[in-house]
Amino acid sequence: MDFIPFNKTYVPSEANDLIADVLMSGWITTGPKTKEFEKEFLEVIGSSNEAIAVSSGTAALHLAYIVSGIRSGDEVIVPSFTFCSTINMLVHLGAKPIFCDISENSLCIDPNDISKKITSKTKAIVVVHYAGYPCEMDKINKIAEEHKLIVIEDAAHAFLTKYNGSYIGSGNNITCFSFYATKNLTTAEGGMVVCADKKKSERIRMLSMHGISKDGWNRYSEVGKWRYDVIEPGYKYNMTDVHACIGLSQLKYYNKSNLRRVEIAAKYKEILSRNPYIILPPDPVDKNSKHAWHLFAIRVSGNSPISRDNLIIKLKEFNIGTSVHFIPNHQQSFYKDSTIILPVTEKVGDTILSLPMYELLTDKEIIYISDTINQILK
Ligand SMILES: Cc1ncc(COP(=O)(O)O)c(C=O)c1O
Repeated sequence: MDFIPFNKTYVPSEANDLIADVLMSGWITTGPKTKEFEKEFLEVIGSSNEAIAVSSGTAALHLAYIVSGIRSGDEVIVPSFTFCSTINMLVHLGAKPIFCDISENSLCIDPNDISKKITSKTKAIVVVHYAGYPCEMDKINKIAEEHKLIVIEDAAHAFLTKYNGSYIGSGNNITCFSFYATKNLTTAEGGMVVCADKKKSERIRMLSMHGISKDGWNRYSEVGKWRYDVIEPGYKYNMTDVHACIGLSQLKYYNKSNLRRVEIAAKYKEILSRNPYIILPPDPVDKNSKHAWHLFAIRVSGNSPISRDNLIIKLKEFNIGTSVHFIPNHQQSFYKDSTIILPVTEKVGDTILSLPMYELLTDKEIIYISDTINQILK
């Protein structure tokens, strides 16, 4: 079998025409295509909120934290089991991340542990819909309401994740998506902030463009006016029309690509469920919730004949690429603190392994990967 990479991005051929039109149009950065992408994204997730396309999921989080008023001295409850940027952006604002454990049933933030970590300095709770599995938002929103806390949703994995019958991004919390190259919807690099509050949305848009009153399109185009004003020092976080075209081409096929991920997950589960040493990823218990299957992350059980780390090496020998999501942040050099103990996060962090999960993965490859794992772990 040829090498099966951990990720292979599929961009529909329509992207070529869309990008060519933009390149020939004389305007290639933020403009009409970015607007169209924001609009179509909201339509697909059935959201009546505002959407602001930005240059990355990290930028989306940074702006969401700023408009939520997170600042120096604030404590923010956040899972350690996430990508570092969820946490780095808090630190850049001078806030203190308070690492929270995850629930073994969902691999998402554990509402019981959130309650234990609230102090008079707590400002916000950041949740991460890990792998595309929805967090327990009813419980989390209730805790936040009781303690007057803000909730920000890191939905980097959660394009087309459903909770209580609605797609993530259609509720009231500020929600941040990533369109990084490996994500279910990609613009190569990109992100989106989705926000129900009009005033905050306007500020997010302004901050994404240096904090000035108008973007380039609104200054240089036929309809634009030249004068602009710096309202506050912002960032250069805007998405370009070229990148928006990649996203637009994929949005046309969101249903098909989502269904393929469901099929891949089912096939993996069918074959790997025979293996007593594999713990399969959870399925939402509530039928009104839907997994987006951004990742298919298995765990190697405690009594397995080989460790997760050795399984990665063996799979590589069999030409299978894998990845680890995530090494917990409280175990990273910068964030290391021996007083932080998060039993579930630590156990999961030591044993989790993400298998290839993308539309271009063939049934033959899924069978090969699963059979190889079953052969190694017996
Ligand atoms: C959970 C999570 N949050 C945030 C991000 C950051 O997104 P980006 O790479 O688009 O900045 C990622 C990216 O992989 C992620 O997995």
